[in-house]
Amino acid sequence: MGIEESTEAPPPRHIGIIMDGNGRWATSRGLRRTRGHREGIEAAKRVVLAAIAERVPCLSLYAFSTENWRRAEEEVSFIMALVARNLRDQYDFYRENHVRVRHSGNLEGLPEDVQQEIAIVTEETRGNKAITVNLAVNYGGRDEIARSVSRILASRTESALLSPVTAEEIENYLDLPDLPDPDLIIRTGGEHRLSNFLLWESAYSELYFSDRLWPDWCDEDLQAAIADFKRRKRNFGGMR
Ligand code: IPE
Ligand code: IPE
Ligand code: MG
Repeated sequence: MGIEESTEAPPPRHIGIIMDGNGRWATSRGLRRTRGHREGIEAAKRVVLAAIAERVPCLSLYAFSTENWRRAEEEVSFIMALVARNLRDQYDFYRENHVRVRHSGNLEGLPEDVQQEIAIVTEETRGNKAITVNLAVNYGGRDEIARSVSRILASRTESALLSPVTAEEIENYLDLPDLPDPDLIIRTGGEHRLSNFLLWESAYSELYFSDRLWPDWCDEDLQAAIADFKRRKRNFGGMR
């Protein structure tokens, strides 16, 4: 093994992606916004394959936020139908590429059929080991922290109810407590904000912003983000 190879930084253990820009991608082509969401699924598949090739074990994809309900009812119902249908239609993709699908977010707030598809796909793909893809649907970071605190309180005996809540407990009761914190969070589409994504887990994430709209993303974009990540110097509050 050459020196360069042995000193190469490891890939991120977990990447979170704020997949933004579907609407602009479509309207700039004179198409309806919904067409951009459909193209966004193709981009997600390309990026999942690129992540597997780069040996990234976990990918969180922000698909629908707790604030996205504020959009026109036509767009919201299109996205919900698209999510439900694709969870099912992509079974071959998950099987052939050994993709384990998981969900984070407020499950009960989703339409019945979406809840059902999530339950089926997470169960059916449980044994797949190439990558875990966490679909954040009806997800909000604040909502997740509130859910965690509610679970903590529900787990407590009456005598322990008023003892202080620790950061460790909050971590242990998040939606997917077994996933590592994201090493890298990517936002596509040119905006520089988190929009309520993984607020607790992103405390020490490296942030990467790309102007490219999500439906245009391909393997090279992910490779560039990972290469950039590998050059970062992380301190976690310690000394350089
Ligand atoms: C991201 O793309 C997808 C969702 C939020 C569901 P947008 O729909 O936000 O696209 P822009 O930002 O309007 O271009
Ligand atoms: C963030 O994108 C949410 C998702 C990508 C699912 P938005 O388009 O909803 O974010 P804002 O409204 O521009 O902050
Ligand atoms: Mg947007």
